[in-house]
Amino acid sequence: MWSPTVTDKQKLVIFDTTLRDGEQSPGASMTREEKVRIAKALERMRVDVIEAGFPIASQGDFESVQAVAKVVRDSTVCGLARALDRDIDRAGEALKSANSARIHTFIATSPIHMQMKLRMQPEQVLEQAVHAVKRARQFTDDVEFSPEDAGRSELDFLCRIIEAVIDAGAATVNIPDTVGYNVPEQFGGLIRALIERVPNADKAVFSVHCHNDLGLAVANSLSAVVNGARQVECTINGLGERAGNAALEEIVMAVRTRQDVFACNVDLDTTQIITCSRLVSNITGFPVQPNKAIVGANAFAHESGIHQDGVLKSRETYEIMRAEDVGWSANRMVLGKHSGRNAFRTRLRDLGVEFGSEEELNEVFSRFKQLADKKHDIYDEDLQALVTETGLDEEHQHIKLVSLKVCSETGELPSADVVLNVGGREQSAAATGGGPVDASFKAIDTMVAAGVQLLLYSVNNITSGTDSQGEVTVRLEKGGRIVNGQGSDTDIVTASVKAYLNALNKMLSPVQRAHPQVADV
Ligand code: KIV
Ligand code: ZN
Repeated sequence: MWSPTVTDKQKLVIFDTTLRDGEQSPGASMTREEKVRIAKALERMRVDVIEAGFPIASQGDFESVQAVAKVVRDSTVCGLARALDRDIDRAGEALKSANSARIHTFIATSPIHMQMKLRMQPEQVLEQAVHAVKRARQFTDDVEFSPEDAGRSELDFLCRIIEAVIDAGAATVNIPDTVGYNVPEQFGGLIRALIERVPNADKAVFSVHCHNDLGLAVANSLSAVVNGARQVECTINGLGERAGNAALEEIVMAVRTRQDVFACNVDLDTTQIITCSRLVSNITGFPVQPNKAIVGANAFAHESGIHQDGVLKSRETYEIMRAEDVGWSANRMVLGKHSGRNAFRTRLRDLGVEFGSEEELNEVFSRFKQLADKKHDIYDEDLQALVTETGLDEEHQHIKLVSLKVCSETGELPSADVVLNVGGREQSAAATGGGPVDASFKAIDTMVAAGVQLLLYSVNNITSGTDSQGEVTVRLEKGGRIVNGQGSDTDIVTASVKAYLNALNKMLSPVQRAHPQVADV
């Protein structure tokens, strides 16, 4: 039987949409600087295409895409646009300085979306799609088209619209299972049918974009790959709208590990996976569950005695991948109290963090020294948390922590004294509560009457050991808007207060942005 060799194999394009679809997760919004950090980490991992945002959504989104397009040189940078002139022109403008730019334009094609959302006839949708692709081609040769909700669209109509957009100049046709409705055999069959039936299918790369509502995003994407898809859209840690997207790390490692099944290759540097995963979790405030495949803390931990014995004798008995191949040990570089500014700067540069000025470097370095006084070994995860927390952008820190004193004694009501700097003015308040965290949050509430509801409070340790930093995630809601905040410190009450303030600062910063899939046409 013919079995493909590496040289026979086609490339599987990895299209990361953490910065766009990932950001549509409730509370996952990122600042421009944070997006640039993630984009650099993705570029270092050799992701082929980085979807950096939806430029028409807001001035902030536009500037983020622009900033990513400026700094990323080795990956293609993509901007999303509805099939509307104003969206496409804005995306084209944002991508002007990209080394390699892609415009991704889309319009819904399922009967329910066309009738209920767009209120358009299929012929109008087809016409608008063709027009959008032609317009996008005025900015770049690299145009991608998505028939939104393709997973619930009629095959004949899909074939017609895909043939038309390829003729109009789309080089990539992306098939989204927008609502995560498909199952693997059916979705793979859809991709195969499209490739077989669309007459000019050989002129475009077929891509897939699967949501995880039934927990099938990765399975559906891989089934599509077996059936001819040569681009997968995915996100780090599976972040994304509702139940998320296909997880990049799972797609990449499945294709790498099961080369007997997949007739294609991925070019990624997989040793960067853990660094990217931690960075995204850290910035968005979405913790990674311990049993998450590839990037969860337990993904390579062998608890049972039988397994441990087997792994010690021969690791292949129970391990199908090597932990170091996804970066579990590669990123354990240690800094400490005696590390100098140069080692610090170099390590952060390796992690994709560049400082805009010497003051910025000094500020983070002085926090590093404070941390090194409390914690002997500082790992990459600690450094990333430090940089995220320092924020590097003053504008997002309206409320700052000046000092915190808590008292917690057996049999006594815990109390907290908090001093804040709110918009340049120092204020203090004291409160008691069920515990020191509760007391601290209550004291803050008396100073910042934000009217927010606490949806989630969780604590993780960043590394191991009792001197490890605690990483706290706080999720707040107000008037339907959700934000996540994160804070880290060797003292978990301080980490909690930092996380709460981080979330409050986000909540207080005005954000007005259109959602790509609910906005008007
Ligand atoms: O889920 C979806 O359909 C999308 C499109 C914009 C590709 O995110
Ligand atoms: Zn999506």
